[in-house]
Amino acid sequence: MKINEHYTEIGNNYLFAEVAKKVREYKAKNPDKTVISLGIGDITQPVAPAVIEAIHRATDEMADARTLRGYAPDYGYDFLVQAILKHEFIDRGILVEEDEIIISDGAKSDTGNIGDIIGQENTVAITDPAYPVYVDTNLMTGRKIELLPCMPSNGFVPPFPKRSADVIYLCYPNNPTGTVLTRDQMKPWVDYAIRNNSLILFDAAYEAFISQPDVPHSIFEIEGARQVAIEFRSFSKTAGFTGLRCGYTVVPKEIKAKTSKGETISLNALWKRRQSTKFNGTAYIVQRGAEAVYSPDGQRQTRSAIEYYMVNAKIIKTALESLGLTCYGGVNAPYIWCQTPDRMTSWEFFDLLLNKIQVVGTPGSGFGSAGEGFFRFTAFGNRESTVEATERIKTLF
Ligand code: MLT
Repeated sequence: MKINEHYTEIGNNYLFAEVAKKVREYKAKNPDKTVISLGIGDITQPVAPAVIEAIHRATDEMADARTLRGYAPDYGYDFLVQAILKHEFIDRGILVEEDEIIISDGAKSDTGNIGDIIGQENTVAITDPAYPVYVDTNLMTGRKIELLPCMPSNGFVPPFPKRSADVIYLCYPNNPTGTVLTRDQMKPWVDYAIRNNSLILFDAAYEAFISQPDVPHSIFEIEGARQVAIEFRSFSKTAGFTGLRCGYTVVPKEIKAKTSKGETISLNALWKRRQSTKFNGTAYIVQRGAEAVYSPDGQRQTRSAIEYYMVNAKIIKTALESLGLTCYGGVNAPYIWCQTPDRMTSWEFFDLLLNKIQVVGTPGSGFGSAGEGFFRFTAFGNRESTVEATERIKTLF
């Protein structure tokens, strides 16, 4: 047999696995030290009580032959699709239809798996830095990638590709930079995709953290986007589902592509075909938990967790800026993107923080070469550790 040799081009470890490995090794050598992680964006606050209660109720249903559920419907339970449709789209005046929402186990899987329905020969444009899944999964398939550098000099607004791109990945609010595109900045991308017959893969996993009114929560707020964009959403950061796993992808029926034989194919149908073949549904109890996010208590409780994390973001950003470091993000996103001091490389700063003060963050270069010289801190820690981490950082300067 032969392996897929494209896998040899992506390095041995996924970024967050690499960071975790270094931290494990450090802890094994220094068992007396307390390490604080502001690295991977993983939750620390308990899942909302309304969600937990719904999961308990659903679990009890599984213990009774009259109410138990087996395989979930391929594209998600109607109760969850309807709750999403109402709260995320109808209430915001955004046109999305129920059969365009496809429930999954999260945006990481969907942003990676979407490549299954995209031809290998497409050229792909990806912002740099970016969530590593986009680059890694395209390299795994052997697609040609053009990186779109996002830096302070262009205000982190991606430039258009030099060669016309068939597929464009955009993530806003952005992971890792925490920066956003306003409606006016997003519109040219939709127009670009319409002009060039491109597909935008829009990752909106962090939309719940938006605080400014001119920042769109969905790309479908932009006129024309239904013809050219697929949107990925997640309950992970919005409602603490990193360990529960639930997300959804919106594939408008307007998006069509032509086969080499000239046949017109709907991407909505293609994605459903892919999911029903390779994915067996998100657990019933988890979908009930996700539905409860939209109950009045669920909304209040999840909002309060988001506010808690955004206070952390402010604490981190204020502390770093008080030390003279230049930082971005942290206002509409739970990430702070900080320039490393003294022109250190991202990994040098990582080593310094880990070895000297036992604070873990994520090296910017792990998100792409334009991330070199930057460092990402997450706001998902608990308050005490976040404050303690900033106190420790202050001792370095
Ligand atoms: C991150 O830290 O970038 C994310 O938590 C990773 C993920 O969502 O998979």
